[in-house]
Amino acid sequence: MKFLLTLAILAAAIFVCFGSSATWGRRNNNDYLLSRQVEVRNPIKNNYWNVNVDFPRAGTVNYYNISAIYVYDNFRNTSGATPALWSGGPGYRFAQINLRSQVNRGLNSTIEIYGR
Ligand SMILES: *[C@@H]1O[C@H](CO)[C@@H](O)[C@H](O)[C@H]1NC(C)=O
Ligand SMILES: *[C@@H]1O[C@H](CO)[C@@H](O)[C@H](O)[C@H]1NC(C)=O
Ligand SMILES: *[C@@H]1O[C@H](CO)[C@@H](O)[C@H](O)[C@H]1NC(C)=O
Repeated sequence: MKFLLTLAILAAAIFVCFGSSATWGRRNNNDYLLSRQVEVRNPIKNNYWNVNVDFPRAGTVNYYNISAIYVYDNFRNTSGATPALWSGGPGYRFAQINLRSQVNRGLNSTIEIYGR
């Protein structure tokens, strides 16, 4: 049991270091999926993408409290974009997520926002 736990923590640590996926907050069983969007960009030569994803989208209103945000890197290798939560997030009704790609690499990330 303790070994399994250690293994899980180790796997999580490796995931954090090499993966480009991220989670903020915690999703409860009865939370709604408030938003799911896929951001895809083609690589730019000698440059990187810096994409800000705003929730709710401009011109829309969100009445729910955010409980969790999940960002999945669809590349599933080490060349995906690094996600960061720049403002809002769990406990708020808005969030701004930044995706920073690597130089000469595009990005393909899925952002899911849950709340209630
Ligand atoms: C959302 O959060 C605010 C502030 O914490 C709280 O007052 C409100 O009841 C929450 N709304 C829901 C639907 O949970
Ligand atoms: C992005 O990733 C998704 C999930 O793996 C895949 O279905 C989709 O085709 C990808 N999009 C591009 C443009 O590569
Ligand atoms: C990672 O995966 C993407 C999409 O499949 C691919 O375009 C890219 O070249 C891969 N990067 C590496 C370092 O293998």
